Amino acid sequence: MANYFEKLKSLSTKAYAPYSNFHVSTICVLKDGTEVNGVNIENAAYSVVLCAERTCLAQVYTLGYRKADIKKLFLYTDSNQKGSPCGMCRQFLLELIDHDVPLEIYNKKGESYVVTIGDLLPYGFTKEDLK
Ligand code: THU
Repeated sequence: MANYFEKLKSLSTKAYAPYSNFHVSTICVLKDGTEVNGVNIENAAYSVVLCAERTCLAQVYTLGYRKADIKKLFLYTDSNQKGSPCGMCRQFLLELIDHDVPLEIYNKKGESYVVTIGDLLPYGFTKEDLK
C-alpha cells in the first residue's frame, strides 16, 4: 500500500496558510483508484478560510463522484496532538460521505488513528431532519 503519511506531508506543503502556519492535507481515495487532494486555503478575512477536508470533497463532487464512489479518506495536520476535523468539516462530511467510510488521521509525528464520521458526529443533523 502507498505510504500515505509521506504523500500527505508532501501535499500539506501546498496549503495556503500564511495566517495560522498550520498546514492540513486530505486525500480522498475513490473506489476506481483515483485520488483527489485538498489543502487548507486561508484568507485575510479569517472566517472565509476553507479547510482541507472541504477543498478535497468539493473537488470530488466537482469531478462528478458521489458518496458511493468514496472508499477512504486520509487526513494530515501539522499537530503534535492527534488532530481532528473541525465541527464545520464534520457537518460537511456527514452529508457527503457514507457514515462508515474510514478516516485515517495522521499528525506530524506520523502517529495515526482511524475513525468514521459516524463516530465523530453522532446524532448529527441530516436531510432526514428536514422532513
Ligand atoms: N483546518 C483544516 O484544514 N481542517 C480542520 O479540520 C481543522 C483546521 C485548517 C483551517 C485553518 O487554515 C488552520 O487549519 C488552522 O485552524
